[in-house]
Amino acid sequence: MNSTTLRLVLFGFTASVGSLLLSACGTDSEGTIQIYTGRHYDLEAAFEAFESEFGIDIEFLEGSDAELRERLQAEGDDSSADIYMTVDAGNLATAAEQGLFASLDSPVLDAAVPAELRDPDGSWYALSARVRTIVYSTERLAPDDIPTTYEELAEPQWKDRVCLRTSSNTYTQSLVASLIANLSYDATLEVANGWADNAHIMAKDGILLDSIRDGRCDVGIANHYYLARKLAEDPDYPVGLVWANQNDRGVHVNLSGAGVLANADDPELAQQLLEWLASDGQNLFVDGNNEYPVNPDVAPETLIANEFGVTFEGDRTNASEWGLLNAEAVRLLDEAGYE
Ligand SMILES: [Fe+2]
Repeated sequence: MNSTTLRLVLFGFTASVGSLLLSACGTDSEGTIQIYTGRHYDLEAAFEAFESEFGIDIEFLEGSDAELRERLQAEGDDSSADIYMTVDAGNLATAAEQGLFASLDSPVLDAAVPAELRDPDGSWYALSARVRTIVYSTERLAPDDIPTTYEELAEPQWKDRVCLRTSSNTYTQSLVASLIANLSYDATLEVANGWADNAHIMAKDGILLDSIRDGRCDVGIANHYYLARKLAEDPDYPVGLVWANQNDRGVHVNLSGAGVLANADDPELAQQLLEWLASDGQNLFVDGNNEYPVNPDVAPETLIANEFGVTFEGDRTNASEWGLLNAEAVRLLDEAGYE
């Protein structure tokens, strides 16, 4: 593990050096929730609101998902971490497979989070929804030419006109896992072969969108909130979004979420925080990153509601499949020669 990339982040004013040292020794101070997080977005508003409402301190240890899970396994019973929070169901499903999570029985979370966006055993719960869908040039594509399925992007007319993320990216792997779950390995391999033939491979969704703006590609696949960010900066940004596969299985919905750890020192407090983030704190949690609420009683923020709409048909396959099929997805992308 490369611990130099782990970063401890404190919110609120009451956390002291003393509590830090105590938690480092594994005796978590009372009234403190420690979160190991692989999620790197602006979340301060939600956690500061929780801290001041309930008088509880929250500490974060940020790092890459692989190193955070490795650290949790190494710490075992001695860990002072209460919650593992991250993006992508694949990461959460991996942690569940490693036995890192407690299994919660929470009527609040069951009511707030749709069944397909939580682990069937209560190990982890989505707290926000991010939709990975088709984006296109509003300047170069006529409405009738906009592709409406992921599969279409594998067809020969899109040769050299598609921008896609790398095969090592967890977003790509989970999308491919969703195709395997819905189609089959062989049918998905055919699609990935076409993508590999057609695509320019991009390192980040933001670069991918700018490449469509700049004319390097006409279409691509990206998470909706990256386009929301571009549109917040420039309302005339010349890239649009279409929800994929609305006439069959629905668009690929991924998530960010969290679970209470099996070795948590404060499991009740940790559960209380997750319940709050999924209900009273939903808006604060999702709006900071232009994500969609998972809680159907919570309205999306004005920007994404106005730009993208409030409803779409999402794939109802349980998101834990993206994790269970991750190894197959990686193998398939390799077999397709997709970089
Ligand atoms: Fe992201």
